[in-house]
Amino acid sequence: MVGIDPKAATRTPPKTVVFRVKRYNPKSGREWWQEYKVETHRGMTVLDALLKIKEEKDHTVVMRYSCRMGVCGSCGMVINGVPRLACQTQIAEVADEGNPVVTVEPLYNFPVVRDLLTDFTDFFEKHRSVKPYLLRKDREEQEEPRGQYLVSPEEHALMYEFTLCISCGLCYAACPVAAIDPDYLGPQALGYLFRYVIDPRDEEWQMRLMIADSEHGCHKCHYAATCSMVCPKVVDPAQAIQRLRSLLFKYKLGLWRKKKTAPLSEKPKDWKPRKPLPPEAQLVSPDVDLERLESEPVTVEVDGKRVELRYTIYD
Ligand code: SF4
Ligand code: SF4
Ligand code: FES
Repeated sequence: MVGIDPKAATRTPPKTVVFRVKRYNPKSGREWWQEYKVETHRGMTVLDALLKIKEEKDHTVVMRYSCRMGVCGSCGMVINGVPRLACQTQIAEVADEGNPVVTVEPLYNFPVVRDLLTDFTDFFEKHRSVKPYLLRKDREEQEEPRGQYLVSPEEHALMYEFTLCISCGLCYAACPVAAIDPDYLGPQALGYLFRYVIDPRDEEWQMRLMIADSEHGCHKCHYAATCSMVCPKVVDPAQAIQRLRSLLFKYKLGLWRKKKTAPLSEKPKDWKPRKPLPPEAQLVSPDVDLERLESEPVTVEVDGKRVELRYTIYD
């Protein structure tokens, strides 16, 4: 596991570190390596160093970040050849006095927009394609919820690890299959898919297994497990994919079916049906002339004064 070295923040990195940053200019198509010397301090992360470069040396360097605390998953990049979160990587982890050089590149297997900034459109499309949300058949309960679906601590423990994914894409960048098959769903999407197959509240497990069984699904995985090695949240997508394969195999032989789904709790004593929406928030009836409603002001009385209102119709 690459993981985080909890002691790295207590070590002092080399006083001056050379950052070799891979640059890309989409207008000219030019790619090059650029070096910057950075004065460091204890506790400094790779993202801190890149921001220092941007503020003090070269404002044209482009990268993405947001939370700066390993939660949003937006600062993924390849640091010394390994996909990592820049905000979670101490310089002391990746540079020492013997080799005070850090190379930084954009994530592999993602199109590069500019410098260290990569395009996640296709990655999120794959994420969406596995329907990463609960699917239930009890439509009435969905529209008028009365209780909660009960999940035991044991059931929760089985899927907990897979709920920690922050969709940072590091696993995808480390995957050799994603490098050669751009349509491969990849470890992140398949990990999510597995999490919903085993979630006792979900009822569409058969449909999910069919997605996993597709041409670019779990059978493509080589089980190199580099995805799991680089995950900053210690999720194990390689294991999820192997377990998906095993479930699929047993399902096809008629040896596995998901047991009945999570039961609904008792209706709480203070349960009340939802209040109907106020009349002004209800959908416009089909016989209303929308164009006229938008173009002609409506006069209403507010505190004894007549006020003209104009409606805006949203689709
Ligand atoms: S499984 Fe880990 S590495 Fe992959 S997207 Fe989720 S958090 Fe990132
Ligand atoms: S285990 Fe499968 S998904 Fe993970 S890196 Fe290897 S080939 Fe990719
Ligand atoms: S900036 Fe949010 S995870 Fe690094």
